[in-house]
Amino acid sequence: MRLGVNIDHIATIREARGIDLPDPVQAAAIVELTGAYGITVHLRKDRRHIKERDVELLKRTLKTHLNVEISLDSEILEFIKSIQPDACCLVPERVEEITTEGGLNIIKFIQPTKNTVQELKAMGIKTTAFIEPDEELIKTAPKCEVDAIEINTSKYADAKTIKDRQNELVRIKNAAQIAHSFGLEVHAGHGLNWYNVQPIAKIQEIVELNIGHSIIARAIFVGLERAVKEILDLL
Ligand code: PXP
Repeated sequence: MRLGVNIDHIATIREARGIDLPDPVQAAAIVELTGAYGITVHLRKDRRHIKERDVELLKRTLKTHLNVEISLDSEILEFIKSIQPDACCLVPERVEEITTEGGLNIIKFIQPTKNTVQELKAMGIKTTAFIEPDEELIKTAPKCEVDAIEINTSKYADAKTIKDRQNELVRIKNAAQIAHSFGLEVHAGHGLNWYNVQPIAKIQEIVELNIGHSIIARAIFVGLERAVKEILDLL
């Protein structure tokens, strides 16, 4: 199982003070040296945490894999094409949201998604669509020409009862199987932590997890290296 560590919230802490510490680029080096598969960042339209400078430096200094989450926004797309990260995950974005609230509606936005995917693929950038574990959405993914889907696990992570969590797990398993049968690579993420990650990691078709907030939150107490290592051990 590949672990992509989302380091956005290192930059959130930096922005709380408006200075240059802590530096997400330094954090990325520690995450890499600890053995993660790669680094994920979300370049938001409002630049609330990660900035162009971070993406540029990550591209120049990372030894592993850089995955940038972006919305279907032409200005961000042009910047990303100039950087050429290893992969891009297409996500929906609302300025007022605290975090990504749901998957991208690739049925409604099939054409802009496909156009963005084609532009990224032409640059050799791998493409992923972040979507809900819904059969119709999964069936639409190949039509958008994405290489992979990332299943949104937030309903699973936020489930209040064991029954609800079980139901969400079944939806995720089914979605992973359908996507895999279409030849898509399957990733998952959002809201995953030490206590809920293992049932997701056991799903055979899922080859990559992207985890951010829980790792950075734990790192405040135990250090970044230990926080990453503990998740890697669970995987
Ligand atoms: N995957 C996507 C597409 C996301 O937008 C995020 C949050 O930035 C994550 C994974 C990681 O979620 P979390 O921070 O809850 O681990």
